[in-house]
Amino acid sequence: MNEHRYAARVRGVEMSGIRKLFEAGGPDAINLGIGQPDFDTPGHIKEAAIAAIRVGKTGYTPNAGIPELREALSEKFARENDLTYRPEQILVTAGGSEALHLVMEALVDPGDRVLFADPGFVSYAALATIAGGKPEGVGLDATLHIDVERAKEQMDGARVFVLNTPGNPTGAVESEESIRALVEYANDQGVTVVSDEVYEHFVYEKKHISAARFGEDVITVNAASKTYAMTGWRIGYLAAPDEYIPEFLKIHQYAQACATSISQYAALAAYTGDQGAVLTMRDEYRARRDLLYDGLAGLGFDFPRPEGAFYMFVPMGRTLIAKAIDGGIVIVPGEAFGLRAPDYARFSYATSRENLSRAVGRLGKLME
Ligand SMILES: Cc1ncc(COP(=O)(O)O)c(C=O)c1O
Repeated sequence: MNEHRYAARVRGVEMSGIRKLFEAGGPDAINLGIGQPDFDTPGHIKEAAIAAIRVGKTGYTPNAGIPELREALSEKFARENDLTYRPEQILVTAGGSEALHLVMEALVDPGDRVLFADPGFVSYAALATIAGGKPEGVGLDATLHIDVERAKEQMDGARVFVLNTPGNPTGAVESEESIRALVEYANDQGVTVVSDEVYEHFVYEKKHISAARFGEDVITVNAASKTYAMTGWRIGYLAAPDEYIPEFLKIHQYAQACATSISQYAALAAYTGDQGAVLTMRDEYRARRDLLYDGLAGLGFDFPRPEGAFYMFVPMGRTLIAKAIDGGIVIVPGEAFGLRAPDYARFSYATSRENLSRAVGRLGKLME
């Protein structure tokens, strides 16, 4: 039989360490490993999808997305992000993941350097590699924020800098000052900034600031996934300077044709409808953050209170991480997020308060 052959750029990519954890732990395991809301999609959004099915809105849509949704997203950018993007500058994708994929495929040539925080979201390095580029982590400071000066040193000659605030896996929210400094410097050096803002609504004290306010060469990536508890609906989008859109569309139309029609109508209801559910979820995440943080601080862990997303990145040492996972507390070891934080583990608090209290109690017992 012929030996199967695979392209080197794909062979070089490892499966996500997080996916494996979906099956981890026994029946008694407490799962703090998963990065998706534990809330159900709000009712009015589901109803919009059902109505779309009933009236037969089930065919292909325009490649870039239905005009009503692109219009609604344009208004959302003005209302929430202080950004002016015309509907023609917006492309609706199959989740934020596809938006990130399109950007890497369209911008990265073989050998191009792609910068992102290390520890950082698992997809950046993988998508950069699949596009033929060279992923390169940027270090964080002791408070788990991007070290702006170190990042600047790495920018010379890089092609893309991915900024993710609020950040996965750290929960860190970058300051306006840092975002401005990073974007201005990157753009001055000819580095395109990709701003991944999928956690923008889960910011607990500070205000979310969009990177595109500070530079021309910025691509904003976002999604309905986390904001509206819609991970399975697969709706994301990107917004960019006009000249980028046809290049992204080339890939999107051949690889994907369009995002799911039914989900696009659901997303239209999400972005134009009542935003109360988003605030309720945000308040609940904040209460859970405090519950988990205070519990872990009570056990002696010393790290800054995270300001956003629904993650906590905890310095606990590899031995205890392994002991916790063996003991049925599913958390994600820092190795899954890059090279620089093997002594940390990510705790997701997108789970009930009861689970969080049980996890802290169990961890305390394991440490006795
Ligand atoms: C930082 C970040 N960006 C993008 C995504 C992808 O989101 P989506 O489900 O919309 O593809 C995730 C999902 O975990 C994420 O954490």
